[in-house]
Amino acid sequence: MPVRKAVIPAAGLGTRFLPASKAVPKELVTVVDRPIIQYTVEELLRAGITNICIVSSPGKESLTHHFSSNAKLESALEDKGKTDLLEEVKRLQDMADIYSVMQNQPLGLGHAVWVAREHVEDEPFAVLLPDELMDPAGNLVGEMVETFDDRGACVVAVAQVPREEINLYGSIDVDDQSAETMWVNSVIEKPDPDTAPSDLALIGRYVLEPDIFDVLGKLDPGAGGEIQLTDALNVMAERGRLVAKRYRGRRWDAGTKQGFLEATVALAADHPEFGPDFRNYIRQFA
Ligand code: G1P
Repeated sequence: MPVRKAVIPAAGLGTRFLPASKAVPKELVTVVDRPIIQYTVEELLRAGITNICIVSSPGKESLTHHFSSNAKLESALEDKGKTDLLEEVKRLQDMADIYSVMQNQPLGLGHAVWVAREHVEDEPFAVLLPDELMDPAGNLVGEMVETFDDRGACVVAVAQVPREEINLYGSIDVDDQSAETMWVNSVIEKPDPDTAPSDLALIGRYVLEPDIFDVLGKLDPGAGGEIQLTDALNVMAERGRLVAKRYRGRRWDAGTKQGFLEATVALAADHPEFGPDFRNYIRQFA
């Protein structure tokens, strides 16, 4: 069955991003010229996935507004003859089929994915964490879907991180860490750097079989007292049904202030319209 659906967990409080995320959900904070969540949706479109379920939480209803129609704005742009902007605004509501479900209690990432089960139904699906911004020039999810089709197993994307940072991530145990695609023996959430099975970190991109919902529904709380997606992945690994695909492209953790700033500078410098001027501008800070 083709991968047609995706889940974007976006229910968190964004505490690492305060004060910016106090009144505005962090996923709606702008990087260069669009909110973070638009990058996530555009990444899915590059992989041909257009049925997207955003998991939000009370107070974050505005997340889907970015993708719904705004008649007042559209007629104002039309009256002023601003056709380019009008097209851009309309593109946002036509680009994908956006749905939303509520996670009413902050019980963890695994629980956030689980609340989307009735939307996903019995189909394979992708999960993308919007904090992780991937290079818009790449198509990691598209490549993961190919791996999913080839191997007939769940797929996670991993990247090498400095060992002292592995405790911020899920980490995988594999036989050959140098391979591009690896069968995973086990996965552990936020391991101690001294005992971590590898320095290969989960980077928030997953292509999953729908039976992961049965596993998620039976999990006990794990690291941090939360229902962890990583623990469900570990069950899949034990069943010999988890593959990791290495990502070598650029990525930024836009959920941290430093990562957000780095994403802003890198993506502004690459921007086709104002990138060249921006590059000149930032030379003075080198
Ligand atoms: C989540 C996942 C973790 C993954 C990380 C990627 O952690 O639980 O396995 O490595 O995203 O950014 P969080 O950053 O929400 O603590």
